[in-house]
Amino acid sequence: MSQFDYIKDIARFGLENDQERLLLVLNELIEHSKKNRKINFALQLQSILKENVRTHKTSTLSKIGSDNHFSKLDEREINDLILEKVTSDYSFENLVLDNSVAEDLKLFIKEHRAIEILRKFDLPIANKILLHGPSGCGKTLASYVIAGELNKMMNVVNLGAIVSSKLGETSKNLAKIFRKAAAEDCIIFIDEFDSLGKVRDYSQDHGEMKRVVNTILQLFDYLPQTTIVIAATNQKEMLDTALLRRFDLNVKFELPNESQILNLIELTLKNGVFKFSNNTSIKTVAKSAKGLSYYSIKKTLISAIKRSLFDSIDNKSIVPTNIDIKLWKEFIENEKKALL
Ligand SMILES: Nc1ncnc2c1ncn2[C@@H]1O[C@H](COP(=O)(O)OP(=O)(O)OP(=O)(O)O)[C@@H](O)[C@H]1O
Ligand SMILES: [Mg+2]
Repeated sequence: MSQFDYIKDIARFGLENDQERLLLVLNELIEHSKKNRKINFALQLQSILKENVRTHKTSTLSKIGSDNHFSKLDEREINDLILEKVTSDYSFENLVLDNSVAEDLKLFIKEHRAIEILRKFDLPIANKILLHGPSGCGKTLASYVIAGELNKMMNVVNLGAIVSSKLGETSKNLAKIFRKAAAEDCIIFIDEFDSLGKVRDYSQDHGEMKRVVNTILQLFDYLPQTTIVIAATNQKEMLDTALLRRFDLNVKFELPNESQILNLIELTLKNGVFKFSNNTSIKTVAKSAKGLSYYSIKKTLISAIKRSLFDSIDNKSIVPTNIDIKLWKEFIENEKKALL
């Protein structure tokens, strides 16, 4: 075949919109040019082809491969944007909460269990919820509880993969995730939401951040009512006010007070064999833990349990399941010194 024959074929297949044969003949022309020492031309043609395949990756591939191949690729691309898909068996029993927070969350769950009733009366369903407050106070845990209570699959968004340096890509990625979640009727969980929804003026790449916030606003506005979005942040003040307004529920998680610390102790020891040898000073020690997060308190208690266990094994004399409360107090003080 001469160069002219290839050009004729390219014209024909191009005009007929026959991508598959167009690509074949272009590849043949590249090989033909290489053989005939038209290396520069071959390389230029090759880079045009590559660039086109890259930018129109999905549409081109959909025509080259089978439909099945295309949907697999598409699926893989979206899966990269999701950190994990989880089902959870957590319930409210796993979470120590302030009464008003518990009430808010329980009402939210109730709404989603009673969607049909709300629909019948044409009432809107709350589906966008913002969890905010200091680190280690149960925001992520609460999202698992919501998923567990509603028995729904939860897609945890992979922020690292979503936020792209390429212009417009972050918004596209977000749209893909929302579309998938709506189709699969699952919960979308966006942890560290502040990194997406920052105040428009804060960011250096002003234009791109504004675009991302606008995309989220749109996605929120067109979200099907049965699709739940949970966003969590410990920097609520960084969020765009327009975005803040879109949440149906704004739940504040706080550091535990004394009675919540006692509930946390009870919860932590509930299913284990460990207990305090004398209960009289627990309240005093709990009081001393004020100012620490649930996470830190639980961590110090678990450290005290382990140390008490090892000490008792070494000493052989003491009951191995007793927790040395003095040791725990010491760990609390150390933790406070390290953090506060
Ligand atoms: N309210 C709580 N009730 C019971 N356990 C809690 C609570 N808050 C935190 N914990 C314990 O601490 C761990 C970490 O909490 P979690 O990941 O939910 O904190 P977070 O608020 O999401 O923090 P961050 O802002 O750092 O993401 C939980 O897995 C749980 O063991
Ligand atoms: Mg968290």
